[in-house]
Amino acid sequence: MRVDFDPEALGRNAFYKLLTSVVVPRPIAWVSTVSADGTANLAPHSFFTVSSVQPPIVQFSSVGRKDSLRNVEETGEFVVNLAPEHLFEQINATATDFPRGTGEFDAVGIAREPSLRVKPPRVADSPVALECVVHSTVGFGDSTVVFGRVVHVAVSEAVLDDGHPEVRRLRPLARLGKDEWGTVGEVREIKRIRFADWPGSGE
Ligand SMILES: Cc1cc2nc3c(=O)[nH]c(=O)nc-3n(C[C@H](O)[C@H](O)[C@H](O)COP(=O)(O)O)c2cc1C
Repeated sequence: MRVDFDPEALGRNAFYKLLTSVVVPRPIAWVSTVSADGTANLAPHSFFTVSSVQPPIVQFSSVGRKDSLRNVEETGEFVVNLAPEHLFEQINATATDFPRGTGEFDAVGIAREPSLRVKPPRVADSPVALECVVHSTVGFGDSTVVFGRVVHVAVSEAVLDDGHPEVRRLRPLARLGKDEWGTVGEVREIKRIRFADWPGSGE
């Protein structure tokens, strides 16, 4: 037996709660931007993923019109900082609805460092920064999806294993439903099966 949910019948907020409880775990883009007057802003966005490989594009969605979105529209750049486990409280604090013009780097006390290719600063203590130039935006109702071309990636040496980022060292947080967050649990490995190796494929 299954329980059925109709988005129309359930209504916006209840359906949003349902959707974000079943599309889990979601990686968290800790997005830094700057406003036209130079204020540095930082906010977590879990509606985030890779959209394209070549060109390399990532996307995040703003639900409603927030400072991150306004800054991206004004200045055309953003940085996706990986949200690491050891900054759990700080990441949550940057989701506070500070008044427009309040920069979360300063309000929360987050150390920054300059980016190489874009104006928004990186989070100094985050192990990964994807520096992005806005490619385009698409609106859906009150949400806006921002697509950014990744023009530079900076990875902390400490998380590299044989030159490759290692998930147990990255320790990314993930967003779950309600007020729940996740950490990386058991990591399993398995090789993709080529059809040539599929039982009976050569017969
Ligand atoms: C873990 C986490 C993930 C979030 N994901 C999103 C998201 O994907 N889209 C969004 O609009 N808001 C999201 N929020 C809420 C924003 O971070 C929050 O509204 C923030 O105040 C926006 O900041 P800004 O106005 O400086 O852009 C999230 C909050 C948390 C704690």
